[in-house]
Amino acid sequence: MRAGRRLLLCGALLVSACADDDGGERRRALGDRPTLEAAMRVADSRRGGRLFGRCAACHTIGPGAGDRNGPNLFAVMNKPVASNSPRYGYTAALRALGGTWTPEAMDRWLADPMTVAPGTRMRFEGLADPLDRADVIAYLHSHSAGTASTR
Ligand code: HEC
Repeated sequence: MRAGRRLLLCGALLVSACADDDGGERRRALGDRPTLEAAMRVADSRRGGRLFGRCAACHTIGPGAGDRNGPNLFAVMNKPVASNSPRYGYTAALRALGGTWTPEAMDRWLADPMTVAPGTRMRFEGLADPLDRADVIAYLHSHSAGTASTR
């Protein structure tokens, strides 16, 4: 391959990689206020993994990994709320929330935890962007028993 052509090809790859990186193309296609269902259809668990960096100060995700400030989150999706790590001391505020971690419940929680469960110990301002939340939910989904990815 001649140098010029190779340069062109790399440029094109770089552009698509960058667009995927911030979710820009998907965000434009979804519009300003996508439903959770629409966002989940195009969710990218790999990008969710990068966003999980913001959770990792307080949470581990590997199977059997320890708790930090917050409980371990391996296989948290579809579990009863405030139960994922049996040894973790959940607040009464989170225990009172009830229900299970459906994608809908997780979406509300990640948008604004301190409003969903006033008094929660999860001091996190929330993920304002619906696509960011969908990507993180896809990442949480991909870390459960029966899925290959257990990083
Ligand atoms: C500053 C620390 C901190 C950050 C950052 C944080 N969390 Fe938490 N998280 C907590 C704490 C503490 C709890 C326990 C809350 C309670 O008992 O009130 C918690 C609880 C949870 C639970 C409930 C688990 C269960 O067993 O019911 C989920 C789910 C969760 N966090 C997800 C996330 C995700 C995803 C992110 C990143 C987008 C995140 N958290 C960011 C501290 C944090």
